[in-house]
Amino acid sequence: MSCSKRWVRVVPTGPVLVEGPVHIELSDGTSVDSDRFMVAICSCGRSKTYPLCDTSHRARVRKTS
Ligand code: FES
Repeated sequence: MSCSKRWVRVVPTGPVLVEGPVHIELSDGTSVDSDRFMVAICSCGRSKTYPLCDTSHRARVRKTS
C-alpha cells in the first residue's frame, strides 16, 4: 500500500469522491475494484450499483399540474 495521501472529498447529500484506483471491501465480505481516476462512493444507500454512486441521491422533482 502506498504511503502517499489520498484525495477524498465528501459531497453534501452526495457521494464521497476518492482518488482512484480503489479496492472497496464491504461488510458482507465482497469487494469492488475501480481503476477510475476519481471514484464516487455512495453514501446515501440508494445506489443500484452500491457501493458506487449511480446518482440516485439526486432529488427527484415532481411536476404538479
Ligand atoms: S450518493 Fe449517489 S447514489 Fe448514493
